Amino acid sequence: MEEDQKENNGQRRKGISRRGFIQLVGAGAIATTLGDVSKSSPVEAAEAAEKGEMVHVSLQVNGRRHRFKVESRWTLLDVLREKLGLTGPKLGCGRGECGACTVLIDGQPRYACLTLALEAEGKAILTVEGLLRDDELGPVQKAFWDNDAMQCGYCTPGQIMAAEGMLRVNPNPSLDEIRKGMSGNLCRCGSYAHIFKAVEQAAKLKQTV
Ligand code: FES
Ligand code: FES
Repeated sequence: MEEDQKENNGQRRKGISRRGFIQLVGAGAIATTLGDVSKSSPVEAAEAAEKGEMVHVSLQVNGRRHRFKVESRWTLLDVLREKLGLTGPKLGCGRGECGACTVLIDGQPRYACLTLALEAEGKAILTVEGLLRDDELGPVQKAFWDNDAMQCGYCTPGQIMAAEGMLRVNPNPSLDEIRKGMSGNLCRCGSYAHIFKAVEQAAKLKQTV
């Protein structure tokens, strides 16, 4: 009990743990399914999603607004990759376990595979592509490059977005805070030591730009 309280307090100060992250995403997706897909009733909303009914959705991605017609059950990841051709966010597990699909929604790291496109309407969505400054890498991208923080690179866009989100909340994290802040993102190549170093460097770089 006391441990849970400590963890909750820590989340508010320093970002969010893997467990809290998954709970937040799951709760949001369910609330949207029940409350937004249909304006009438939760049962009708669930039926609409099941039938694959087409709906309009307007999304602000990397500073630009886009309008699509999608099935109400499409995830944000589906729309980013299939409609916008943004291949930075990756499909790994598709169920909130690996973090390969991480994007920022209103500045918070979220799993795009567990977020309905409709849920993201009216919010600012940032993908790894949106961190570029003209043709230059942003600070977190540059730090990952400088520290060889990747092997196959599949997890890297998600790792970068998780780091970006964490550093916005906690600009000067300790190594323990970095480990915890990045705990929602798995790397099957095991590049964690380099990833953590990259995040440490990214924190410094961000303070100079
Ligand atoms: S693909 Fe989204 S968490 Fe794994
Ligand atoms: S670099 Fe291969 S999964 Fe992370």
